[in-house]
Amino acid sequence: MAAGKGTRMKSRLPKVLHRLAGRALLQHVLDAAATLQASRIITITGHGAEQVEAAVQAPALQFVRQSPQLGTGHAVQQALPLLQDEGTTLILNGDVPLIRPETARALVEACAGERLALLTIELDDPSGYGRIVRSGDARGGHVLGIVEHKDAAPEQRAIREVYTGMMAAPNRLLKRWLAELRNDNAQGEYYLTDVVAMAVAEGVPVVASHAGSEIEVLGVNSPLQLADLERRFQRSRAEALMEAGVRLADPARFDLRGELVCGGDVEIDVNCVFEGRVVLGEGARIGANCVIRNAEIAAGAVIHPFTHIDGEKAGVQVGEGAMIGPFARLRPGAVLGPEVHIGNFVEVKNSTLARGAKANHLAYLGDATVGERVNYGAGSITANYDGANKHRTVIGADAHVGSNCVLVAPVTIGAGATIGGGSTITKDAPEGQLTVARARQASLPGWTRPKKGG
Ligand code: UD1
Ligand code: MG
Repeated sequence: MAAGKGTRMKSRLPKVLHRLAGRALLQHVLDAAATLQASRIITITGHGAEQVEAAVQAPALQFVRQSPQLGTGHAVQQALPLLQDEGTTLILNGDVPLIRPETARALVEACAGERLALLTIELDDPSGYGRIVRSGDARGGHVLGIVEHKDAAPEQRAIREVYTGMMAAPNRLLKRWLAELRNDNAQGEYYLTDVVAMAVAEGVPVVASHAGSEIEVLGVNSPLQLADLERRFQRSRAEALMEAGVRLADPARFDLRGELVCGGDVEIDVNCVFEGRVVLGEGARIGANCVIRNAEIAAGAVIHPFTHIDGEKAGVQVGEGAMIGPFARLRPGAVLGPEVHIGNFVEVKNSTLARGAKANHLAYLGDATVGERVNYGAGSITANYDGANKHRTVIGADAHVGSNCVLVAPVTIGAGATIGGGSTITKDAPEGQLTVARARQASLPGWTRPKKGG
């Protein structure tokens, strides 16, 4: 179910497209559903339907639209024509992102094609949720029904066992029950949860299985709840990494929005964000405040604080023992060999730097091939773009490019060449020689500076 507006988010973006750990809430749910090998996955869209349908994916995914949105029961009614007469339907909530596949599977098994299986949990603060009403006052009595918070009497509001929004039901019963729903309740909505009382009235067994952990059943209704769930999720990711030996300076200041694969003895300082797929080799160290996306950092490499690495699609590779930053920027296609040094305010894009090459200060390398041990001076840039096309710069091994040079591509600097500081190089520079391309320095004897008031 993903048709609701999510009024409490107070956002133009449909609620289910808000991101948790870098992925849309609904995409988390679909990823969990995809592991169940269901014959089909049906997503009910409504509010922002086109946007939602374009933003998510899953195998055998179909969409049905619900318009207007008259409640969760009405939502599932829209999907009935797509359901086979036999079989089981598992209903998940597009705004409850962290449901684990094992829990969802257990719910389907508890249904066993003939019972109504509800996923419930006890919460210290159950407000807002549908309460599980049981016979007698002892816990463990039979489930009689679900009462929505807004419809609940004061003594029902004291019930701490709540419906998580997830159930599994036999299709043939679900179809019949949904046809009989009414909307005579506090919200004037067709409540899916009313099927529970119908099952009880017919003597169909209702089983309530308890969710293993709170985190997998928490729903997102507001920015505060979204941030809260994000922190809990990040904490669990951080703990898993630390159990595997990764040393996080502070698990509360760590964000993983994708996949992070770490070798032994990796150290990560505070406030780092990892996105996409990031691989950190053995002994790699990441300084504070780095943002790293789609990159492979080899063993022993050190990324100093405030470095931004974004491999986008092409990826970034940092070689063994390389030192990057502080304040460096590596962009897609930056392939740095072992022991390469990239210093502060240096940007590298679509360039290969061989072993031991250095660009330590205030420089740009774009579309360049840089040989071993090249020293690329402060303030030097490759002028790789002529306004229409990108061109390559090739710098041979052991070349020294002085400070504040402009290498106008396409151009080749020979191996062992030296380029005098301040040169604008528009033609190839030969191997082993000094090439200087700047006005000669002149001094004018007897020249005097103009004086004020004179
Ligand atoms: C629902 C349950 C409540 C449960 C809670 C758990 C009902 C009546 N109540 O309440 O018992 O404790 O979830 O989080 O089911 N949706 C639609 N179409 C609609 C209305 C909602 O697709 O017409 C979707 C929403 O996008 C959302 C989900 O259904 O993904 C739940 O809707 P929401 O309005 O958040 O229900 P709650 O009031 O939280
Ligand atoms: Mg909700």
